[in-house]
Amino acid sequence: MDGSHARLERLTSMLRRRGVILPAFEIHGGVAGLFDFGPIGGRLRRRLKNSWLEHWMSQGDIVEIDSPTITPESVLIASGHVGEFNDHMSECISCERAYRSDHLVDGKHPNPDILTADELDAIIAESSIHCPSCGATDWKPARPMNLMFSTRIGAMKGGRTAYMRPETAQGMFMLFPALYRHFRNRLPFGAVQSGKGYRNEISPRQGMIRLREFNMAELEYFIDPEVKPQHDFSKWSAIEFSLVPDPELGQPLKMGPEQAATENIIRHPTVAWFMARTWDFLVGVGIDPSKIRFRQHEGTEMAHYATDCWDAEIQGSYGWVECVGIAHRGCYDLAAHETATGDKNLRAWRPYDEPMIVDKTILAGKGSVIGPVFRDKAGLVNTALEELEVLTSEFPFKLSLVDGTSVTIEEDMIEEKRIQSTEHGEWFLPHVVEPAFGIDRILWHVLDHAFDESEKGGEPYTVLRLNPSIAAIDVAILPLMEKDGLDDLANNIHQTICATKNLASYYDGSGSIGRRYARADEVGVPWAITIDHESLQNGSVTIRRRDDGKQMRIQPDDLVAALASDTISALF
Ligand code: ATP
Ligand code: GLY
Repeated sequence: MDGSHARLERLTSMLRRRGVILPAFEIHGGVAGLFDFGPIGGRLRRRLKNSWLEHWMSQGDIVEIDSPTITPESVLIASGHVGEFNDHMSECISCERAYRSDHLVDGKHPNPDILTADELDAIIAESSIHCPSCGATDWKPARPMNLMFSTRIGAMKGGRTAYMRPETAQGMFMLFPALYRHFRNRLPFGAVQSGKGYRNEISPRQGMIRLREFNMAELEYFIDPEVKPQHDFSKWSAIEFSLVPDPELGQPLKMGPEQAATENIIRHPTVAWFMARTWDFLVGVGIDPSKIRFRQHEGTEMAHYATDCWDAEIQGSYGWVECVGIAHRGCYDLAAHETATGDKNLRAWRPYDEPMIVDKTILAGKGSVIGPVFRDKAGLVNTALEELEVLTSEFPFKLSLVDGTSVTIEEDMIEEKRIQSTEHGEWFLPHVVEPAFGIDRILWHVLDHAFDESEKGGEPYTVLRLNPSIAAIDVAILPLMEKDGLDDLANNIHQTICATKNLASYYDGSGSIGRRYARADEVGVPWAITIDHESLQNGSVTIRRRDDGKQMRIQPDDLVAALASDTISALF
C-alpha cells in the first residue's frame, strides 16, 4: 500500500470511528453512495453550509429560497434532464456488473468525459479493460443511462411520474417571477438554495466524492445579456488563479480573474466574478489555495444547458476532483420552461432609452364575446391579449392575467388588429450564471487538507486543523477530576457555552488529560478548557489552543464573550 493510500485509509477510519462520516444503513449491509453525518459531521456540515449561505447573502443582491426535492416530470422534460441527463454505462458480459464507461477508461484518454459511446467502446476493446469485479474483458456496448431516481406523485391511475431533483437549480427558475417581484423588477439579482440532490450514479466509488444523495448548494444569478457587467476585481489584483482552459483554446496558465476575462479566456466577466468569489469561499473554509485550479469544460463535455463552464477542482487524496461547476447557462432554462408552458412571466423588462413608435399586429378581444364570457375580468383579458408578445395560432390557449389568475381563450373570442403603438421597452429572457457547489466534496477536501499526522513523544499524533469558523465543536470542557465540585463547575461552563448562540462545547471527563486533549485535537476542536482546583478558588480556568498547545488562564465569562465575538485568538 503506498503512503497516500495508507493516509487515506487512516483518515477514513478516523472519520468513521469519531462519528464524522459513516456508511449509511450499515447493519443492513449498507448502500454504495449513501453516507451518514454523525454527531461531529452533522454540525460540521451545517457550519459549512451556513458559511456558504452567509458568503453569498453578504453580496446584498442574493436571497435564499427553498423548493421541493420531488419534481414533476414535465419540469425535467422541459429542462432537458429527462432526455439528456445521462452517463454512459458498460456492462460486463460475464458477471453483469455495470460500470461508468468513462471511469473504465480512466488513464487511457486525457478527458474521458468527452467521448461518445463508440469511442468509449473502442478504447475498452483496444485496451482489453478488465472488469473490476470479475476480471473478464468482454463488455456489452456502452449505452446511456439516465441518472435520475424516478417516483410517483399520488397513487394508482391518478398518479403522475416525478423525479427526485438532480439539481436544485430548477427551483430557482420556477420561482423567477417571485424573485423578479421581490427585487422590484430590476436585474441583476440572484437566489441561492442549499439542499439535497439525487443522482443514481452507476458505480459510486471514492467515498464522499460520488454519492447518490448529496448536499448541493447552488446560486442562480440572473443578468441582462445586453448590459455590460460591472464587477470590482480589485480585491484579487494580486492573486493569480491556476487556469486550465479547454485544450483547443489554450494551455494551462496562472492569471488573475480580471485579466482572464479581459483576454476572453473566461468568456464572461460575471463568470470570472463568481470564480473569484468561489475561490474566496473555498480558501475561507480551509481549502489550501495551492490545491485549487479552475478547469474549463471542453465543448463536448459541457452540460446540455451550458455555453461556458469552469470547474473549481481541488487536489486531495483522490487527485484533482471537481467540487464546484461555474456555468453560463444563457437563457436555456427560462426559454425552455416558457416554450413548454406558454407562461410569459419568466421574462424581464428592458426599458428603451427613447420610446419607439412601431406598427404591429395585436390580438384584440371581440367585445361581443369577451364581455359576456369574462364579465368583470373582460378588461384584464383585453389588456393581456394586447400585450401578448407572440401571436399564437393555436387554440384554445391559456392566458395569464395580472391578478395572478388565468383564462382559456377560444378562437372565436379574438381578432387580429394592426395598430401603431409607442413602445417604452421590451420583455426579454434573462441570462443566468450559475455556481453549483457540492458541499460533500468540499467538506471531504476540508477534512483531507486539515488532517495533519505528526508525532508526539515518539507516538503518532493526529490534529485536524480545521478553521475555527467551521469546526464542529468550539470548546472541549475538561475537568481535571470528576470530584471536589470540579465536575459541577465544568458542567456549568459547558451549559453556558451551549446556550450561547452559535457556540458548541462538549464535556469530556474520562481518561488522562493528555488523552482528552488528543481526542479533542483529532476532531479539530480549536480550544480546550481545563478546570482545576485553582478554578474553585478564583474561578479562572486554563484555555489551551489546539494548533500550538499554548495555554493561559482566563475567567469563564471572558472566555465565553471572546468565543462569541470571535476574538479569542487575540488574547494569546
Ligand atoms: P461529475 O462529472 O464528477 O459527475 P458533474 O459534472 O456531474 O460531476 P455537476 O452536475 O456540475 O457535477 O454538479 C455540481 C456539483 O455537485 C459538482 O461540482 C459536485 O461538487 C457535486 N456533485 C455532483 N455529483 C455528485 C455526486 N454524485 N456526489 C457528490 N457530489 C456531487
Ligand atoms: N446545477 C448544476 C448541475 O447540476 O449540473
